[in-house]
Amino acid sequence: MKILVTGGLGFIGSHTVVELVNAGYEPVIVDDLSNSDPKILDQLAKIIGYKPVFHKLDLCDEAGVKALAVAEPDVAGIIHFAAFKAVGESVQKPLKYYRNNFYSLINLLDAYYSKPLNFVFSSSCTVYGQPEQLPVTEEAPVQPAQSPYGNTKQIAEEILKDMIASGTSSYKVVSLRYFNPVGAHETALIGELPIGVPQNLVPFITQTAIGKREKITVFGNDYDTPDGSCVRDYIHVVDLAKAHVAALKLAERDDYQGYDVFNLGTGQGSTVLEVIHAFEKATGVKVNYQIGPRRAGDVEKVWGDVTKSTNKLGWKTELGLETMMSSAWEWEKYIAQNPL
Ligand code: UD1
Repeated sequence: MKILVTGGLGFIGSHTVVELVNAGYEPVIVDDLSNSDPKILDQLAKIIGYKPVFHKLDLCDEAGVKALAVAEPDVAGIIHFAAFKAVGESVQKPLKYYRNNFYSLINLLDAYYSKPLNFVFSSSCTVYGQPEQLPVTEEAPVQPAQSPYGNTKQIAEEILKDMIASGTSSYKVVSLRYFNPVGAHETALIGELPIGVPQNLVPFITQTAIGKREKITVFGNDYDTPDGSCVRDYIHVVDLAKAHVAALKLAERDDYQGYDVFNLGTGQGSTVLEVIHAFEKATGVKVNYQIGPRRAGDVEKVWGDVTKSTNKLGWKTELGLETMMSSAWEWEKYIAQNPL
């Protein structure tokens, strides 16, 4: 079964391509290379044994997406990763985010509208804001978004729900709310490739450890958490990738209809300092860090209740924080020696 993977050369997309192949699917990658490198195709080939089919396409190009649907008519599912995701940049350039993240989604949905397809959407725990109850369940209220990026995820979920409610499309939709994906493939051939200065915690840790950055700043140590730094639910990207296969399998079932949403996390929170120390323990490499002020827009603590995903997706995480750190480190070392 062919599965269209938009953003398939990105961090989560590339790991999902591998897991799709492991599960017997045939991934077809669509990517505009705006935040990814075409050499990831060669890296994927080293893991899966062949170069997957690749279409270079900006999904905002409506005619291009229609042409894609003509070129790839027999896809059984779509996993839609392609989107801009930098929270800070989205505050500076909101129209860039709204234009890209909505045009691409709508063009894609339109192009395959009448086909009975399973559609898996990359959403985010950002929709919960600072939840009142932890761990946060899928039933928790969606809070006003803290950034245009977060708003694109909330509104995209609404778009998908409204589309299903209209009864006019043949899609079955699964939205996956990611907590904090980190780590890299065990081969160290694919991983996260931040452009410029990383905004996210783990790439900043690995770049500091390898000497690309002098030190990492811990954004705040006066939160109401065990050691004062923020708590997040870090999930290994390979576990996350496997959840996409589980989501497709769920949508393939005759008794699955319409729209549903699932948390993808481990169900456990870790503080920023715990993550840094887990990295040091897993790799034996010291991380030069300092405590700095809070970062605007950060929530204090969030981790997911994964009961629904465990029960309905038949999926659970297998890889812990130390494996997340050691695999991220192996990838950082690999890419330092083998720049793409
Ligand atoms: C954010 C978004 C998430 C989005 C992700 C993608 C929110 C609430 N979350 O995750 O939806 O998918 O970005 O980019 O909008 N930290 C440091 N020092 C650093 C970097 C990070 O202390 O140099 C801390 C942060 O304060 C935070 C934790 O590390 O507590 C994780 O930060 P980060 O990796 O940026 O992810 P989120 O902000 O949780």
